[in-house]
Amino acid sequence: MLVSDCCLEHTVMSEKIAIVTGANKGVGFGIVRCLCKRFDGVVYLTSRDEARGKQAVAVLEKEGFSPRYHQLDVADISSVAKFRDFVEKNHGGIDIIINNAGVAPGTDENTYELSKSVIDINYGSIVNVEELLFPLLRENARVLHISSDCGHLSNVRNKEWIERLSKKDLTRKDINDFVEWYLDSVKKGTFKQSDFADNGTIPSYRVSKVAMSALTIVQQRELEPRGIIVNSMHPGLVSTDMTTGIGFYSIDDAARTPVYLVLEAPPTIKGAYVWHDRTVVDWYDYKANYYFKRNSIFIQLIKNTFSKIHIPLIPSTWLLSNSISPALAFVVKHISETFSANKSTCTTYGMIDRARE
Ligand SMILES: NC(=O)c1ccc[n+]([C@@H]2O[C@H](COP(=O)([O-])OP(=O)(O)OC[C@H]3O[C@@H](n4cnc5c(N)ncnc54)[C@H](OP(=O)(O)O)[C@@H]3O)[C@@H](O)[C@H]2O)c1
Repeated sequence: MLVSDCCLEHTVMSEKIAIVTGANKGVGFGIVRCLCKRFDGVVYLTSRDEARGKQAVAVLEKEGFSPRYHQLDVADISSVAKFRDFVEKNHGGIDIIINNAGVAPGTDENTYELSKSVIDINYGSIVNVEELLFPLLRENARVLHISSDCGHLSNVRNKEWIERLSKKDLTRKDINDFVEWYLDSVKKGTFKQSDFADNGTIPSYRVSKVAMSALTIVQQRELEPRGIIVNSMHPGLVSTDMTTGIGFYSIDDAARTPVYLVLEAPPTIKGAYVWHDRTVVDWYDYKANYYFKRNSIFIQLIKNTFSKIHIPLIPSTWLLSNSISPALAFVVKHISETFSANKSTCTTYGMIDRARE
């Protein structure tokens, strides 16, 4: 080997690298953009679809950033293996992994096939990444799983599972059994809405994210001796395709806490479940109010709709003199006051919900 080749190889191998999954759009794209600004190393924007990923890279290049690209379908073990080989050969190790790729069911229809595919992507992918990419993690590397408010233990209402998932010596088997228990209940038609918060809405997504946040705890325990930090976090309700554009936060707002967690957070934050405002939340507090409430989406939808149309302040005298029933008059007056004359009420309402969303 020529001396110059040797030096080149050394330079490349000593470069720090960060990998973001599912980064062609949404929160993952925002994270890549933020890392490009703040991380002193190579940032990989990865996506399952090569064309969509390269398009996203082109957007960032136009903004003056230089992310690198590689195809990565986290639910496809052969794609993860190809990426592993590429990283090993070209970089020798990994400093940061942000597991962001995810899907939501998008319908209330709770079939076995749909539940399994949501769980395979949101939770199975973490298992694939763990199996193939974790061996490349360098000492003191940081891993972040983008979970959800659906990933807090308070989403589970079944007492046996709350107890088992809260065990100090929680194992992968416990978590996999939890996932299998849910899938089995859907297959056999014995699924009970009361086993989950919010009357069991989007149960497959809740199960996948609870499993992901529980696995974070096991992974931290195992990787502790290598100084590696693993956390999971809820990014807030972010305006992306997943939420059909409804959200309190832009993708750039939403990227701040993930990037803080992998670049700056003190090493005492480990194996933790972190809220989008950087608060470390007690994941085990199953009675807490952190679980996802579908109403928060509807509230935001209503708020968005009303904030776009001009509703004049309607005087109550007009409502009464036009033979509108007193109950309807009250509702119309309230909406009119809330969303037109007194915009601050509208904002305050948003803020109240935001605190616990
Ligand atoms: N938005 C929110 O309010 C919110 C709240 C809580 C948690 N989250 C979590 O935040 C993460 C990002 O969500 P988002 O809102 O940004 O959603 P999004 O806009 O729908 O983006 C999801 C990304 O994941 C990718 N993806 C899906 N399956 C994949 C696979 N098998 N391999 C690789 N990439 C895959 C998608 O790629 P394609 O373009 O190819 O589909 C897309 O790039 C998810 O884990 C989600 O659960 C979001």
